[in-house]
Amino acid sequence: MEKRASPPCSSSMATANCTIFLISILIVVAFSCSLSQAEVSKVANFDDSFNKTCPESHFAASDDGQKWFLSLDKKSGCGFQTKNKYRFGWFSMKLKLVAGDSAGVVTAFFMCSHIDLGPTRDELDFEFLGNRTGEPYIIQTNVYKNGTGNREQRHVLWFDPTEDYHRYSILWNPHQILFMVDEVPLRVYKNANYTNNFFPISQPMYLFSSIWNADDWATRGGLEKINWTNAPFVSSYADFVVDACQWEDPYPACVSTTTENWWDQYPAWHLTEKQKMDYAWVNRNLVIYNYCQDKERFDKAGEPMPEECGLSPWD
Ligand SMILES: *[C@@H]1O[C@H](CO)[C@@H](O)[C@H](O)[C@H]1NC(C)=O
Ligand SMILES: *[C@@H]1O[C@H](CO)[C@@H](O)[C@H](O)[C@H]1NC(C)=O
Ligand SMILES: *[C@@H]1O[C@H](CO)[C@@H](O)[C@H](O)[C@H]1NC(C)=O
Ligand SMILES: *[C@@H]1O[C@H](CO)[C@@H](O)[C@H](O)[C@H]1NC(C)=O
Ligand SMILES: *[C@@H]1O[C@H](CO)[C@@H](O)[C@H](O)[C@H]1NC(C)=O
Repeated sequence: MEKRASPPCSSSMATANCTIFLISILIVVAFSCSLSQAEVSKVANFDDSFNKTCPESHFAASDDGQKWFLSLDKKSGCGFQTKNKYRFGWFSMKLKLVAGDSAGVVTAFFMCSHIDLGPTRDELDFEFLGNRTGEPYIIQTNVYKNGTGNREQRHVLWFDPTEDYHRYSILWNPHQILFMVDEVPLRVYKNANYTNNFFPISQPMYLFSSIWNADDWATRGGLEKINWTNAPFVSSYADFVVDACQWEDPYPACVSTTTENWWDQYPAWHLTEKQKMDYAWVNRNLVIYNYCQDKERFDKAGEPMPEECGLSPWD
């Protein structure tokens, strides 16, 4: 049962401020006005948009249906996934993570091209690694292309993610993938201007979230186990936004006209000036691990540094 709640795609086992926020909302709204409604979908309702991947007992919603709660106990974790696939767009939700002693518990928000673990999948991950009471959560991000990941970055946050809802978002277009926390770009993953084997571009992806037991690796490398006395562990969700090109077989029209949408127009191809400042701040203050700086790891494996590590996030 627990297996069903793990992210079907993840093999990670191996492994501010208000004004600015408002401004970015305004920018988003302004860009959004040019959306072509027929092709672009905006998601808001749980049952219309998602399938649960857990027993009803582990899922709850607020009375107004606007907040969702997933729980993990010894019997099961919980997850959900979009019914539709998308190629390029803006994928965003608010999360409030398990408070107190959450060591060994991982909550994930991710996109993946395959529902079942597939050897050729593309995947974009946010994983929130729980911790002992009072110790900081770590947020791990990863990118898979055609089944290959090993592109981990780890960051601490500048707030306690268990106290309030914060927005976590993925911007995906042919030029860059941004992992955003509130209005701040935590990670920038650039494409190159040539065909390559590191930037997920061709496979449409589903959006997923889940909570599961990862105490074999998550907290202090697996040293800290889940204390089941504190179960159930509950993560909370609100405010989904999927503003993206929805996939239809064989090929939806919006795939060839993605530049008609704000998330694939020039300003979304690069960091804005404000985002550059925030991203520089992230790099000075929040990075715990970056595979691109782990020369030793690749030397040991007898591999060159990954090609994408040579691309500048500032371009
Ligand atoms: C969602 O559930 C429906 C009904 O059970 C099923 O037909 C569909 O394949 C599921 N889609 C995904 C993406 O899981
Ligand atoms: C993806 O990986 C598989 C091996 O898992 C390989 O056979 C295939 O050629 C790769 N596809 C691309 C487009 O590189
Ligand atoms: C490709 O990008 C490099 C720098 O990343 C640049 O020097 C080069 O001019 C670009 N080529 C094209 C065809 O845009
Ligand atoms: C948990 O807290 C410990 C001690 O502060 C820290 O070393 C570790 O990086 C934190 N996070 C994880 C996921 O282990
Ligand atoms: C597990 O949590 C309970 C309740 O908070 C606490 O009394 C107990 O000491 C914890 N066990 C361990 C091994 O930390």
